[in-house]
Amino acid sequence: MPTQETLTITDNRTGRQYELPIEHGTIRGMALRQIKLDADDFGLMVYDPAFKNTASTKSYITYIDGDKGILEYRGYPIDQLAEQCEYLEVAYLILNGELPNAEQLANWQDEITNHTLIHENIKRLMDGFRYDAHPMSVLISSIAALSTFYPEAKDVHDPEVRDLQIRRLIAKAPTLAAFAYRFSMGLPYTYPDNDLTYTGNFLNMMFKMVEPKYEPDPILRRALDVLFILHADHEQNCGTNAMRSVGSSSVDPYSATAAAAAALYGPLHGGANEQVLRTLNTIGHVKNIPAYIERVKAGEFRLMGFGHRVYKNYDPRAQIIKRIADQVFTVTGHNPILDIALELERIALQDEYFISRKLYPNVDFYSGIIYQAMGLPTSMFPVMFAIPRTVGWLAQWVELLTDSDQAIARPRQIYLGHGRRDFVPMAERS
Ligand code: CMC
Repeated sequence: MPTQETLTITDNRTGRQYELPIEHGTIRGMALRQIKLDADDFGLMVYDPAFKNTASTKSYITYIDGDKGILEYRGYPIDQLAEQCEYLEVAYLILNGELPNAEQLANWQDEITNHTLIHENIKRLMDGFRYDAHPMSVLISSIAALSTFYPEAKDVHDPEVRDLQIRRLIAKAPTLAAFAYRFSMGLPYTYPDNDLTYTGNFLNMMFKMVEPKYEPDPILRRALDVLFILHADHEQNCGTNAMRSVGSSSVDPYSATAAAAAALYGPLHGGANEQVLRTLNTIGHVKNIPAYIERVKAGEFRLMGFGHRVYKNYDPRAQIIKRIADQVFTVTGHNPILDIALELERIALQDEYFISRKLYPNVDFYSGIIYQAMGLPTSMFPVMFAIPRTVGWLAQWVELLTDSDQAIARPRQIYLGHGRRDFVPMAERS
């Protein structure tokens, strides 16, 4: 058996052979360039729309084995982190590579707490939106607007400057999100309460009314910690790829994070949880499920919250969420929409269409049901995804900027348009 880590390619157009090194189960795309018809030929490229089989980076942050349903941050299994950590502890791990000790965690919590306020003019920016503005659009715009308040953020190659913007973004994301919600409800903005934890304060900024001190329910606060941990990073998905692609131009992190959040907003990505609730409401009753499934199978529309580019067995995040749903319902009361979701899952998982395509419930299938039970409108669901994902985007952004393999992201294309032709004056055009 040959043992060398190489790939031999024969170009049948020329009869030449090439030996390419294999590293980490990949060959370098640029290694194909030497495969040419003649000296004038540009060289071979890879055509891979949607990056279905292209590794765009080496990364040390998140590991996923889609076939086995494994998700790990910095080597730690997601279920252990979800069970034993607070969100900020996991955020520290994702950014720094190691779990914090007690002193490091206390300092980190302190640093984040010191940056939760936003400039008063951001409130005025929000006030300028129409009364029915989608809170995710408001969040995306206000994240982008932060770059105008911190012009020094442009210095992305200075580690100290970078660290400060990271703290600001993680601290301000919940404030911007809660303000976007309060604006959409016509409620006065609630300022951060620095006595509370990251998620406790978020609940405070969302739901405080006239009481002098908001006391978050410990079960809901804990459930939010778990949900935030599950959404903190997911390696090279659409939003993270946007963060890296936009960040590769050396733009400031607020602009890059706004781009990542915009990518997340789409219904095939973080917008799916919003669509799941709409689906469950449309179905309305368990008796309508079989007819709905038939329409999915006929290709009329997709079953939102099902399927994943990477997970082809099960999504470990969905299993953890299902467990915490029960705890949340002890506080909020049963959400009847859960019965429809459970039955929909049961029927779909027995159906040949879903089995043969390896379509399982993903993280978004149950998260929306919990958020709805907590009293959040569906339009806030993608926002609830964006808040914790901010840390993943930023960790990936730092990795990008410190990786000597990386350069400005710039794919190639296969041009299939017109060949050269001469300009036609207006009078001669048909
Ligand atoms: N409902 C019905 N059919 C589906 C679904 C679905 N949700 N997802 C995939 N399929 C079918 C698809 O039609 C195709 O069938 P065929 O081979 O007959 O053409 C086959 O399964 C493979 O689909 P694909 O589009 O090639 O798969 P993908 O890996 O490119 O897409 C996905 C992944 C998540 C975009 C897709 O499964 C989907 O659209 N799901 C619904 C949206 C959703 O829940 N998104 C949240 C993803 S998890 C949160 C996140 O990280 O963003």
